Amino acid sequence: MKRFFCEHLLKAERKRYHLNNIVTYFAFEKVLRNAHRSEFNSSVPLLFMYHTSEVVLHKTLNLRVTPERLHVTLWSHSFVFSCDSLFQESTIESLNILELYDHNIQPNKFAITFDTFQMAEKKTFRAVRFHPDKTVKVEQVEFPIVTDDDVLIKVEAASVNPVDVNMSKGIYPRAPKPPHTLGFEGSGTVVEVGKNHAHRLKAGDRVVFLSGSYGSWAEYTLTSGTKVFHMHPDNTFEEAASHFVNPATVVIMLRLFQQEGHKAVIQSAANSALGKMLIKLFKENGIKTINLVRRDDAKEELLRIGADYVLNTNDNDFEQNLEEIAKKESATKFYDAIGGEFAVKVLRKLPPESILTIYGILAADQRLPLTSFDLFSGDKQVNSYNVTPHFEKLPFEEKEKHVAFIQQRLKTTFHSKIAKAFSLDKYADAIDHSNKFAAEGKAIIKPW
Ligand SMILES: NC(=O)c1ccc[n+]([C@@H]2O[C@H](COP(=O)([O-])OP(=O)(O)OC[C@H]3O[C@@H](n4cnc5c(N)ncnc54)[C@H](OP(=O)(O)O)[C@@H]3O)[C@@H](O)[C@H]2O)c1
Repeated sequence: MKRFFCEHLLKAERKRYHLNNIVTYFAFEKVLRNAHRSEFNSSVPLLFMYHTSEVVLHKTLNLRVTPERLHVTLWSHSFVFSCDSLFQESTIESLNILELYDHNIQPNKFAITFDTFQMAEKKTFRAVRFHPDKTVKVEQVEFPIVTDDDVLIKVEAASVNPVDVNMSKGIYPRAPKPPHTLGFEGSGTVVEVGKNHAHRLKAGDRVVFLSGSYGSWAEYTLTSGTKVFHMHPDNTFEEAASHFVNPATVVIMLRLFQQEGHKAVIQSAANSALGKMLIKLFKENGIKTINLVRRDDAKEELLRIGADYVLNTNDNDFEQNLEEIAKKESATKFYDAIGGEFAVKVLRKLPPESILTIYGILAADQRLPLTSFDLFSGDKQVNSYNVTPHFEKLPFEEKEKHVAFIQQRLKTTFHSKIAKAFSLDKYADAIDHSNKFAAEGKAIIKPW
């Protein structure tokens, strides 16, 4: 039966049939009827896709039937359509090509094409999951139901950021409730789109996305359509995978800096991927940067990309130099990724009315040995900054603009050197790379 079915479809491959041709109806129906009588039953290797003006019978799949909804999942690179109202009953016998015609298609405005056909019986996909007992495992996850608000994406590349490392240890405060899949952001191809986002996304689109509880370290992910954006055509999946966490953080850092009316900025961990983006973006906006690193050999690159000052925090005269430069440049904004005692030591050397904004927690000891006097004497402030809530508050059009702005600059201002790609099985090596060799560039996860 399987062979009959495939042959039938392959014979028709690349031919186009107009649905108002009655012969096509019957040919099509025959294929379906024969199919359902065999072993296919509720897992039917058929997919109809409509795609602007076309209906395509495409590769692949797994049909999971529920009373209200036929959920279609696709394995290959291609497409899917949602057919909620199409099937009233829970078996393929209720499929009738005329119903398809009636429910979804405007007469004379479409054609059916048969594409290469291939059997697939996959019902789960692989993902790197974090569990309540703080263990991390690569395991099979069932395909989720795509609700009206969701988008199902085949993941092509996912970045490995300090936020992911923290999540893998269970120390990221905004992490979803475990068990959840790791991976904050990524790039991939749309497989299925919920109704509410069908006006701007369709199956087959190349996209960048932010994850929900189905993270990006997986073969597939499900996320809210409000977190999915078209990928810039000039970027590779690998480049596009790091489109958000660091770049968007820096874009919003610039906005906060400008709103608060500072003249120059100080940043710690300045040789991080994010630190380099900050140097470039602030320079493009005519703002001087005072950059703190912990190694002399990190200085040269930062000066080359536009840093105004680079200080080694391990030098004996570090505090004195910092105080002089900060005063000279009226540098009253300190973006700190390290925290703890170090952050306070720097704040004490800054001019009056300085603001310490904590945006990372790289130091092992996060206690701030701060006195009221430290703040009161110079009218100083301490706050914290996390990109996600700032970004989430933006109207969707603003988000789209931010992401487009970033994607246009992924090869320049927001360039992140990719040092090495790891498979899902090697996620632990990817984390290790991120911990030990960040200076060499980013690790990324490539699930396929
Ligand atoms: N708040 C937010 O919304 C937000 C968003 C994105 C990123 N971040 C934070 O931004 C920071 C940088 O991220 P990234 O992806 O750009 O990092 P990255 O490229 O992986 O680089 C990490 C850098 O941190 C430095 N570092 C690590 N531990 C340190 C310590 N104890 N003292 C001093 N320096 C230390 C390393 O310096 P060496 O080269 O000397 O080893 C390295 O350059 C992270 O803390 C991350 O969590 C925050």
